[in-house]
Amino acid sequence: MLPLFDIRVTLRSDGCRMKIADALEARFGETFSRVPRLFRAPGRVNLIGEHTDYNDGFALPAAIDLAVWTAAAPRADRRLHMHSLAMGETFEFDLDAAPAPAANWSDYVRGVALMLERAGYRSEGADLMIDGDLPMGAGLSASAALEVSVAYALTRIAGLDVDRLELAKLCQRAENEFVGARCGVMDQYASCFGVAGRLLLLDCRTLRSKPIPLPASARLVVCDSTARHRIADGEYNRRREECERAVALLSKHIDGIAALRDVTREQLERREGDLPEIVFRRARHVVGENERTLRAAAALEVGDLAECGRLMDLSHASLRDDYEVSCSELDLLARIARGLRGVHGARMMGGGFGGCVICLVEAEAAERVAASLRKSYGEAIGATPSAFCCFPAPGAGPVET
Ligand code: GLA
Repeated sequence: MLPLFDIRVTLRSDGCRMKIADALEARFGETFSRVPRLFRAPGRVNLIGEHTDYNDGFALPAAIDLAVWTAAAPRADRRLHMHSLAMGETFEFDLDAAPAPAANWSDYVRGVALMLERAGYRSEGADLMIDGDLPMGAGLSASAALEVSVAYALTRIAGLDVDRLELAKLCQRAENEFVGARCGVMDQYASCFGVAGRLLLLDCRTLRSKPIPLPASARLVVCDSTARHRIADGEYNRRREECERAVALLSKHIDGIAALRDVTREQLERREGDLPEIVFRRARHVVGENERTLRAAAALEVGDLAECGRLMDLSHASLRDDYEVSCSELDLLARIARGLRGVHGARMMGGGFGGCVICLVEAEAAERVAASLRKSYGEAIGATPSAFCCFPAPGAGPVET
């Protein structure tokens, strides 16, 4: 994860959002003497379905009301000039020269510009100014939000109408092929396709999603563990390889499997002896997590928060014990959360080795739970973590001011 933003997040209101837009527009005007167009792309939470996206499986994310904003205006040449208000940094490059990674936040922008070009979407040069209220490295997908907001900006100011799914896939490709992180498509998809008040039951094979309403009696509370373990990227890529190995070994015995999505729990258990122990446990996580995700979505649809919470707790245990992507801070935070009144379930979220825990909480208890997490977990680690309510929000697009 490259440094992006480091802003302490509290509950954001519409007022705050307009402040970002106004400030960005004003600063853009001062810097470039032009009126920009504004684009916003949200971060995401994921209720359940972790490390399933690159296995063609199921996930249950939602876009949230925290976002990356890009102010943009076309240039007459083919240069891309970008400034991040949060980082106080400016970078510039020529769209006609093959960009090389610079190992900082600008790589997400360079990668998106390059993938658009490679896909045949020739954009003009642009001046970009970027701001946001998503914390970095917290598992809320600030990098995907940056990619998507820039992709919207570059295509729209060039008059190119690229559909949302294609944009999401191009942004994923920027991260895979340019930044060098082999992420799945969940984050970019959620940022593009978010629906207010809904989670998205995402089928990562068909790339179709079904909106699942978050019951009115429920809230999503997210707490940042503040842990950021450096091994995350390497371990993420290793998990992908282990899943690929599981598929290669299982397909010697089971016909027609292209991904772990195609394997049932019974099939896997029958083949336990044919897989190395670690590979078996990785596969057991993915196969079980797909089942849990479908069951959690069904439980939410009938308002069964207790069942959904139970499945989230199981998801955490599986990520900790079988997939081994948790860490002591996430385990502690999830355990503290589960002990609070009004919490149905709690689990680590995102790639792992740090970042946030997400809790499914009774609506009336949400603010109290967030405050208790700040206090109890904060005392345990000797810091003040941010904990806040997230609301499923609409996906990315232009912003009219
Ligand atoms: C990161 C990746 C996603 C997904 C999650 C784990 O957030 O970017 O594609 O794999 O980890 O579910």
